Amino acid sequence: MISMDVVVSLCKRRGFVFQSSEIYGGTGSCWDYGPLGVELRNNIRRVWWRDFVQQRGDMVGLDASILMHPTVWKASGHVDNFSDPMVDCRECKRRFRADQVDELPWVHYCEATKGNKFVIPAGEACRHCGARRTLCPECGKGQLTEPRHFNLMFKTFMGPVEEDASVTYLRPETAQGIFVNFDNVLQSTRRKLPFGIAQIGKAFRNEITPGNFIFRTREFEQMEIEFFVNPHEMVDGRPADEHWHDRWIADCQAWFARYGLQPDHVKLHEHARDELAHYSKRTVDLLYQFPMGWSELMGIANRTDFDLKQHAKFSGKSLTWFDEERKEHVVPFVIEPSAGVDRALLAFLLDAYREEEVRGDKRVVLRFHPELAPVKIAVLPLLKKRPEIVATGQELRARLARKWVTIYDDTAAIGRLYRRQDEVGTPYCVTVDVKTVGDSEKGEAGDQRVTIRERDSMEQIRVPLAELDPVFDRLLRGTAWAEVTAGYPRAEG
Ligand code: GAP
Repeated sequence: MISMDVVVSLCKRRGFVFQSSEIYGGTGSCWDYGPLGVELRNNIRRVWWRDFVQQRGDMVGLDASILMHPTVWKASGHVDNFSDPMVDCRECKRRFRADQVDELPWVHYCEATKGNKFVIPAGEACRHCGARRTLCPECGKGQLTEPRHFNLMFKTFMGPVEEDASVTYLRPETAQGIFVNFDNVLQSTRRKLPFGIAQIGKAFRNEITPGNFIFRTREFEQMEIEFFVNPHEMVDGRPADEHWHDRWIADCQAWFARYGLQPDHVKLHEHARDELAHYSKRTVDLLYQFPMGWSELMGIANRTDFDLKQHAKFSGKSLTWFDEERKEHVVPFVIEPSAGVDRALLAFLLDAYREEEVRGDKRVVLRFHPELAPVKIAVLPLLKKRPEIVATGQELRARLARKWVTIYDDTAAIGRLYRRQDEVGTPYCVTVDVKTVGDSEKGEAGDQRVTIRERDSMEQIRVPLAELDPVFDRLLRGTAWAEVTAGYPRAEG
């Protein structure tokens, strides 16, 4: 597994992710997606939406607003429960999560060594005096306050007057936008249970300890599904909510594997009773082996009928589905697969990263799934001083770009151009050379063929210009390289 520093540096160097407001010293908890990052991010969102919304008959989409009626957050429990216990240092004023303070290395001024300063690993005692941490782990001097609850929602004001009556919040999850629209969607689409509503959108949390690059940030994006099921129904001898919960766990695991996460880098974590959120009957997380250790990639919760009942209670509106067969109103149970776009992007990046040795040189390659790769095809001229080669290359780029993200690059020698594309995960390079265009001065006609190079095997084939579209159609839809290229001559690298 590569270190986070290597990925952070690649992301900045190649334009995937930049620190937000960097020229002002940056913010510790927000990140900006650069030219390649925005493509990668869009691709993740696109395949998720296609696979989980458009290709399923039991799902519809929604795009709710970020600012909602403040009572939403009272009803959902976020005003009362969405908080972490915090302790503050009375000396340096640093703030820590009470439950994480013992997981930090701590500064100690040891009396047994005339007050020398030591930084002691988390959870360990001083080797010289045997003391354990009681003071601030950061400055080693201040007493910590008793734990106090700190709400993670960002407060803001709706309208021109900053007063208590106009306080509202930036949504800390997209889920509530779905619950409050449950009846709108039901009435407008005439759905029957089970069915789901999906949404992708920004969420904001004033995290106390953001960090690990884009893993935990204060502004992030979620891809959430609320899947409504009839709790009175049995499926294969089990209550429908339990059946669907297991199905969604398996579907989410399969989705991450399909787009490239190695199965042994992902595992399930069943929440213990004392870990469960206030709304949950059962929650299972998919953990990914990030460089800092196994950490949550996404969660799949059985939220029961908690949210719909709460919103019905606070709004006074009925949020039920009418079961025509049993002639009864049902408050559906909800299965909620909830993933972060940024966390998924980080996992896909880490999993795709390889360092390989090729003919004595190091090659860095991102083995992205072709659907996720930010650039699908790079058109590279072998000689940029030959106008026919450049013109053919640029024409080709414009033609391929109508269907796939295609770039043209002539800013270095071919070997270096290939390495640059490998490093950003471009699955195919197309090289235009002298043989393609011929030599008009010598009266030699070109063969109108170009070389396609595949990123992972570095194999090359020679393909007529006229056949590029159907070849890439098949390759980029997932047909194996060996199958598509069987009929074409190999080219030497
Ligand atoms: N609606 C349920 C919910 O929001 P969550 O476990 O708090 O549950 C779901 O968040 C997912 O959103 C997480 O698994 C993670 O992928 C992403 N996420 C949550 N907080 C995040 C943060 N501060 N930064 C980046 N991603 C975050």
